[in-house]
Amino acid sequence: MDDKTTPIIAIFASGNGSNAMNIIDNISKIEGSLQIACVICDRKNAPIIEKIKAVNIPIHVVPVDGTKKEHEDKIYNTLKSHSVNWIFLAGYMRIFSANFLKKFYDENLKVNRIINIHPSLLPDFPGRDGYKDAYDAGVKKHGATIHFVSEEIDCGPIIMQHSYDVHEQESFDSFKERGLALEHKLYIDALKLLFEKELQKCQQFG
Ligand code: GRF
Repeated sequence: MDDKTTPIIAIFASGNGSNAMNIIDNISKIEGSLQIACVICDRKNAPIIEKIKAVNIPIHVVPVDGTKKEHEDKIYNTLKSHSVNWIFLAGYMRIFSANFLKKFYDENLKVNRIINIHPSLLPDFPGRDGYKDAYDAGVKKHGATIHFVSEEIDCGPIIMQHSYDVHEQESFDSFKERGLALEHKLYIDALKLLFEKELQKCQQFG
């Protein structure tokens, strides 16, 4: 991929899109010229779609219709048409192939220019349902992680984590609601760290 200096971003989301909207609403607080080019959604009826239409950012709904390769090719062509060079995953519930990831590999940074938010303190509770798995395990402390995406699921280099203490007898709804609020703060803090420092310290994340 091109080594462009201005980060041209695509946000990927599959569902409610609270993280995607949080990034859009707060991107101007991050110093530097980050540009959100488009949003990609893989589910036809996801609530995020109407929310994005209201903020005047192009949204491409690309449901799976064929092989994984065909789906990823369609997405990649869309990203190319917007000159996207960074991907922010925000509740995107699909795993990329190694072939897709390598299109975003940055030789200087030694990571893929794709970041993800995961609702647990990785390496604990990787997988689809970080909140439920952690709650069922009775954790006393929970949190979220922003990390670079690598081939191994939820295992890429960690950029930042925030945590919170779980209350005695806390309900699952409250546990998750507080986690989601923390996710929103974490995403913006991590983007500040990454882009305001121009990724100079990237090697330390490994
Ligand atoms: C978040 O908890 C995110 O960490 C997880 O899926 C959820 C998406 O929520 N991967 P939203 O769509 O951003 O509201």
